[in-house]
Amino acid sequence: MKDTQIKKLIEAEKKRQKRVINLIASENYVSKDVLEALGSELTNKYAEGYSGKRYYGGQTFVDKIEDLCKERALKLFGLNSKKWAVNVQPLSGSPANLAVYLALVPKEGKIMGMSLDHGGHLTHGHKVSATGKFWIQVPYGVNKNTEQIDYEEIKKIAIAEKPDIIVAGYTAYPRKVDFKKFREIVDSIKHTDPNKKTYLMVDMSHFAGLVAGKALPSPFDYADVVTTTVHKTLRGPRSAMIFSKIDSREINKKIDKAVFPGLQGGPHINQIAAVAVALKEADTAVFKKYAKQIIKNADTLAKELKKLGWKIISGGTDTHLILMDTWMEGKGISGKEASDVLEKNGIIVNKNTIPNETRSPMDPSGIRLGTAAETTRGKKEKDFVLIARKIDKILRSH
Ligand SMILES: Cc1ncc(COP(=O)(O)O)c(C=O)c1O
Repeated sequence: MKDTQIKKLIEAEKKRQKRVINLIASENYVSKDVLEALGSELTNKYAEGYSGKRYYGGQTFVDKIEDLCKERALKLFGLNSKKWAVNVQPLSGSPANLAVYLALVPKEGKIMGMSLDHGGHLTHGHKVSATGKFWIQVPYGVNKNTEQIDYEEIKKIAIAEKPDIIVAGYTAYPRKVDFKKFREIVDSIKHTDPNKKTYLMVDMSHFAGLVAGKALPSPFDYADVVTTTVHKTLRGPRSAMIFSKIDSREINKKIDKAVFPGLQGGPHINQIAAVAVALKEADTAVFKKYAKQIIKNADTLAKELKKLGWKIISGGTDTHLILMDTWMEGKGISGKEASDVLEKNGIIVNKNTIPNETRSPMDPSGIRLGTAAETTRGKKEKDFVLIARKIDKILRSH
């Protein structure tokens, strides 16, 4: 690279990534093949539209790449192309979620999603996000005592509010989600207007790799729409996909229109090629083993931290992530301080609010830990026992 300034910074970041213990729950380390596809000449190509229906010439190979990516996405999650469609053009998770609402939720309609401080994502209707400005959020949270989803409570809210869409799947919720129960909740909503319908959307951004690796239950038997980022547990490039059921309302066609021309121009074909590479990598026995190891490692980390006296939200984890209450009602250390002091000692985490947060989002009561990135680097349970002890030592000596 001739640009020495950028080259140096990339080299420095590469070294930083190698040096630290990375416990950011939404990050991972992609393969060389994924990087190669991302950095290829495909970035030169404009391809507005969809395969076979583009607005520019020269699409012979681009169409093949996008078709292959879609085929691999459906295959990875065991989906029949007559029953499910997939759009692989969203640039990232937030625009993917926005596209679904644009397609399925009427103006000023209701999005029922988990509130941010209980573990939901900004794009589940939070007021600072476009999704909370154009639509109305009906928030739900976790049970105060169990710190887990309370399906009865959600049912009550859903029946009273009759939202246009219910979003399941979160950013900072460490437990398995019961998609069947969500389906039952959606089906129990009775609209007086026969044209109205409540859709069930699962945002599996965080745990897509765990579903792909058959380490967590799949949402596809119950959801109408499934969105996901590709860059977390699925270990692909920064990108997103939207899966939709092919039904009489043609929601897949509405979603395609919402992505392009509704929200985007030309798709990033280099990114789509890199997604295709990651999907093939995820469709292997090695990846299945990896997905199971992620969960074993998270479980070990949570149990060890608990043993050392720290409060783990909901009492543990079923996934790749752990929400740790570092503040412990003033007996511990704030989330910001914890994150800062851990970084000084080579452990990278993110500060995070906890359910029923009493502090501010910039200096909350907790931190979020994830095991996907370090599991990619080959770490096992015994390594996570040592990581837990290191975290404990650093936080207590602060
Ligand atoms: C559940 C969930 N949905 C959507 C997103 C948004 O993804 P992106 O940052 O790619 O826009 C995130 C990001 O962390 C997420 O956790």
